[in-house]
Amino acid sequence: MLKGKKILLGVTGSIAAYKAAEILSLLKKKGADVLVIMTESATKFVQPLTFSTLSEHSTVDNLFSLNDKIKITHVSLAQWADLILIAPATANIIAKIAQGIADDMLTTTVLASKARVVFAPAMNKNMIANPIYQENVKKLSALGYEFIDSEYGPLACGEIGEGRLADIRDIVDKVEYALTFKKDYLNKTVLITASCTREPLDKVRFISNYSSGKMGFALAKIAQARGARVILITGPNCLAALKGIKTVLIESAEEMKKEVFKYFSEADIIISAAAVADFRPKKVFSGKIKKEEAEKLVIELERTSDILYALGKRKKNKILVGFAAETENLVGNALKKLEEKELDLIVANDISAKGTGFGSDDNKATLINSKGVVQELTLMPKSDLAEKILDEILKIK
Ligand code: CTP
Repeated sequence: MLKGKKILLGVTGSIAAYKAAEILSLLKKKGADVLVIMTESATKFVQPLTFSTLSEHSTVDNLFSLNDKIKITHVSLAQWADLILIAPATANIIAKIAQGIADDMLTTTVLASKARVVFAPAMNKNMIANPIYQENVKKLSALGYEFIDSEYGPLACGEIGEGRLADIRDIVDKVEYALTFKKDYLNKTVLITASCTREPLDKVRFISNYSSGKMGFALAKIAQARGARVILITGPNCLAALKGIKTVLIESAEEMKKEVFKYFSEADIIISAAAVADFRPKKVFSGKIKKEEAEKLVIELERTSDILYALGKRKKNKILVGFAAETENLVGNALKKLEEKELDLIVANDISAKGTGFGSDDNKATLINSKGVVQELTLMPKSDLAEKILDEILKIK
């Protein structure tokens, strides 16, 4: 939540300017105090009154607006803001800020501010592809300015391509994360496996488990918010795709193993949150098994590879984190897995407990590190648990 956070919303001259009103409402609903600065061209698309009404502050639409509870000068606004969000951000505003131009209230405020600045660009696809724009983004990114990538789809100019303003929920999430998390995973690549695997029996049937992928996705989302580069290797799931995260979709344990080892060398940290099937049908039928063919069906199963065990053998200086799904002797079994798979940390789940584990939004876990320190956590949302796991990983020497 954003209670007590002060956000300066910069709105620039794009047709997507009307969407800024909805962004503003969502930020307000989350408890943020939001003040809007519009560029002159933005006022051609939406009336400042819209934003004044929603924000409960006078909208600033020129360098000399002075009528608000907050004393408005470029310096006072620059100091007031915890974060500056420019949404939609045109190629023009990005170019100006990249060059240090300060010729209106928004550019002047950004230049004078030490707050985090997040751009949500919206423009024509050829403008996005233009190397001049790309250079500006590169320059600003290197200086610590953040970007929420625009989306592919129909554009206001009638063309289809990259350039639509990102989904407003993603923009609000990004702001929330930016104000909540420290960037303590910068320059780290985290490889995460998630969800279940499916082991085929014939063309229509498979063996699998109840894992939804929620834990792995929560880890991926929060690691990204904390500055990590994330590679997510996931089995089938019904979750929304994660923006800006390299996501590889797999089905079987063997496919997961292949992809994990493909990206292994790039990772500093590997978190194996997937519930990988331990067994697969020995024979995969080429068509569909027909019921007329037999009164009963006996399926012979064989072991799949233990991916995490194989990773433990090759880990060297990489940090390896596993999960343990247990129905009894939680700590004892988890410790055994920690040792056998040469892990630095294991997250043990009692999957027989109500309201936790597979498919649930919450989880109750016990963390055990390689020194044998056991930390029993309370029931909490998977996103909070993801935070705790990521905190613990940073303590591993
Ligand atoms: N794991 C894996 N490959 C497998 C099975 C499990 O990489 N074929 C990983 C899981 O991602 C998890 C850890 O190993 O991080 C432990 O998984 P779990 O299912 O709890 O234990 P198993 O090792 O499969 O042993 P068992 O099912 O007998 O408890």
